[in-house]
Amino acid sequence: MTPKAAKTNAKRVVPTDPTEYTPHYKYRHAALECESVPLSRIAEKYGTPAYVYSSASILDAYRRFTRAFRSIPHSICYAVKANSNLSILKLLARAGSSFDIVSGGELHRLRHIGVPGRRIVFSGVGKTREEIREALQAGILLFNVESESELDILSAAAALLKRRAHAALRVNPDVQAGGHAHISTGHHRHKFGIDWDHARRLYLDKSLAKWISWQGISAHIGSQILGLAPFRRAVVRVSSLVRELAKAGVHLSSLDLGGGVGIRYTQESPPDLDAYARALLPHIRPLGCRLLLEPGRAIVGPAGVLLTRVLHVKDNRGKIFVVVDAAMNDFIRPALYQAVHPITPVVRSKNANVAKADIVGPVCETGDCFLHDWPMELPKQGDLLVLWGAGAYGFAQASNYNSRPKPAEILVHKKQFREVRSRETLSDLLRGE
Ligand code: LLP
Repeated sequence: MTPKAAKTNAKRVVPTDPTEYTPHYKYRHAALECESVPLSRIAEKYGTPAYVYSSASILDAYRRFTRAFRSIPHSICYAVKANSNLSILKLLARAGSSFDIVSGGELHRLRHIGVPGRRIVFSGVGKTREEIREALQAGILLFNVESESELDILSAAAALLKRRAHAALRVNPDVQAGGHAHISTGHHRHKFGIDWDHARRLYLDKSLAKWISWQGISAHIGSQILGLAPFRRAVVRVSSLVRELAKAGVHLSSLDLGGGVGIRYTQESPPDLDAYARALLPHIRPLGCRLLLEPGRAIVGPAGVLLTRVLHVKDNRGKIFVVVDAAMNDFIRPALYQAVHPITPVVRSKNANVAKADIVGPVCETGDCFLHDWPMELPKQGDLLVLWGAGAYGFAQASNYNSRPKPAEILVHKKQFREVRSRETLSDLLRGE
């Protein structure tokens, strides 16, 4: 990719109206509302930049998953990494969700809000001894083991605690999928999982049986996947492995297909969850296994927006820059993956001047640009804008780069809204130094 092509992410897309495909957000009398709360009220009360989430959107998405798979035993294990705010985890826990974690930190969050171990699966290529011991003590449902070396540690920890570990091997189904090279995981050249020959040997190794109880098999092939074909290829591959193991006397009770279902940011057409279920069910049902899924983005992505205020509008020899108070440290997806997230005004004005602008943040990097050459109603200093599709991998990937305090997070429920993480203060920035 030429540097120019990498920079001009907006050229590939025509601006869309995200309210047409983002449930629970709409313009009423030209003012944008999340559920029944005007976004301008949130900005007045809590300031900007701020992440705003619709609880109805999160719950609807979770329920769409459970409805689509209701005909078989299944658990939806929300991928905590997508958005690990405690209030969002609580919302999902109350709705009955299970959880997929990838660190001791995520385990700590779930334990803090009282999620029982039996609703937690632990994935990740680099689990430490300590994380493994803590998860065993918590009695988690399943370790998705990614290497023989991890299995050795798990087995030793289980022996020490005198508690058999429930395990699955994460196999690498060698399927190419995912929206961007950085978020594709299921190919043999990627670091994730174990190749099948090796996995088969481990499943059949009787010497492991004392402390390892094989419960399942898992595969996660990537993220922001927009077609059903990669999922189909993965499920065909993994279900044939389950049958092969059963013939050899290893009967697995669960099959974890990971996350990865894509969402619509601009013009993508992600799979409808019923079609996704129809693609998987014929392969899973005959196995009699419990299906585990680990969606992250599809649950929280569309529920969130990043609310920001215009600091300056400037014209450099005909090139217009809208400088906002959110930056790449708050939301890194455009800089990291050339992701396109539409930006629209919080209050639409009838006779605004429409022009192309770059929407940029205050961080001292050219890459701190949310959209390039974006046709928009030119805002004025002080106007509010929203960046769409920011609920997943938004706050979760925020940093303090340029010594910027992390933004507030606000959860909306019908007419109510509350701060579920307060904006960091300057003294937060100095903690630990
Ligand atoms: N399970 C495992 C083992 C994973 O590694 C992931 C995501 C998921 C589930 C959830 O995938 P989802 O349903 O959200 O696609 N930061 C990137 C995405 C990285 C995804 C990493 N793994 C982004 O902003 O696009």
